[in-house]
Amino acid sequence: MTNKHYSIATIPGDGIGPEVIRETRKVLEAGKQRFGYSLEWEEFPCSVNHYLATGDILTPSMLEGMKKHDALLLGAIGDPRVKPGTIERGILLTLRFELDQYINLRPAKSFARTPLPVKLPEGESIDILVVRENTEDFYMGIGTVGRKDLSCDLATTRGLYSMEGTCSASFDKDIRGALQIGIATEPGIRRVTAWACKAAQKRGEKTVTLASKSNALPQIYGFWEEIAKDEARHQAMDLSIANVDALCYHLVRAPQKYGVILTPNMFGDIVSDLLGAIAGGLGIAAGANIGDGLSMFEPVHGSAPDIAGTGKASPVAAILSGALLLEHLGLSSEAREVENAVTAYLETASPQDLPVEMGGRASTETVGDRIANLLAGA
Ligand code: NAD
Ligand code: IPM
Ligand code: MN
Repeated sequence: MTNKHYSIATIPGDGIGPEVIRETRKVLEAGKQRFGYSLEWEEFPCSVNHYLATGDILTPSMLEGMKKHDALLLGAIGDPRVKPGTIERGILLTLRFELDQYINLRPAKSFARTPLPVKLPEGESIDILVVRENTEDFYMGIGTVGRKDLSCDLATTRGLYSMEGTCSASFDKDIRGALQIGIATEPGIRRVTAWACKAAQKRGEKTVTLASKSNALPQIYGFWEEIAKDEARHQAMDLSIANVDALCYHLVRAPQKYGVILTPNMFGDIVSDLLGAIAGGLGIAAGANIGDGLSMFEPVHGSAPDIAGTGKASPVAAILSGALLLEHLGLSSEAREVENAVTAYLETASPQDLPVEMGGRASTETVGDRIANLLAGA
């Protein structure tokens, strides 16, 4: 048995975040004996509660503290007590941008025997990998709200590239308006496209599908298509371009036909929730934010204030994000074992033993216990 030691920073966050992180830690710890590893955890308090109590969102010293770890595991953040965006941009998007986590990986996989809202042809399953660009697009936070003459400053520096300039719009009358800028850069598109192509190659696939919308937004998404097509050619991969609206239609009708889907930031946000629902629920949709420095692992879902504290949250998405974390640490067979324990639970549980989201009655804690026991070989 090898002796492997890893330190993990964790942000449990708000709502169901701490509930699903508790179960994820339980499962990863349950693999200890079998995997011969040890895990050390440092919890960071970033959340709405912490913000309301201290005024701090994500301090530079917290960020430096996180960087000392091998990986970051986040539950969910956001709470209706504060204005939308304050904490989401202040923690989640700041981490993605500051750590230059340019890949947002969001696998959508269905499990045999779990209820799906779409009917798949006999013997078929869903196995899609959404590769979402994670540092550009309308997420860059460049915008303004005001009256008559709107202008905003484009000055931004983000690792690979820097930009300067202004953008303005004016209205005839004294009416209120808002301006938000979406930016796509050639290096930004190339690095995520190359990553998606390599992921498709590893899966033995010949095509990557790009979710685009150049018919309505030809500047930003026409540019995306041009650069992504060129990069895919360098990577010897076919790029199939789909308008994101039609793609959503096809994903509902025949999700089994898709493999790797490459998306700009905002379309990826929407498509990954849609695919979560199609493949069995947001409660099973895992995610990873990957960069060349510290990477962050988090479920696709948010803090779900509607079910927080009820025990109805499924921890499966967070546990599968934990498996992506192990994979990232180079622990591939260990990651497979966590996934296998999840599969064994979901495929052998009686209907009432499934998570509440899947029509069952198993609490967050019960689901965590079942998976942890299966992993520990009990
Ligand atoms: P949400 O993802 O929290 O919830 C959407 C729906 O899915 C809700 O009905 C919820 O009950 C259900 N759901 C989500 N996760 C579930 C799980 N594990 N098990 C069972 N059901 C689950 O989206 P929202 O309601 O739009 O957002 C709530 C808050 O979370 C907002 O503040 C939002 O900004 C924030 N948010 C944070 C993240 C993140 O931290 N990564 C992601 C999305 C939204
Ligand atoms: C997600 C979330 C975030 C996003 C929000 C909370 C900023 O919806 O991780 O999918 O839009 O990326
Ligand atoms: Mn989202």
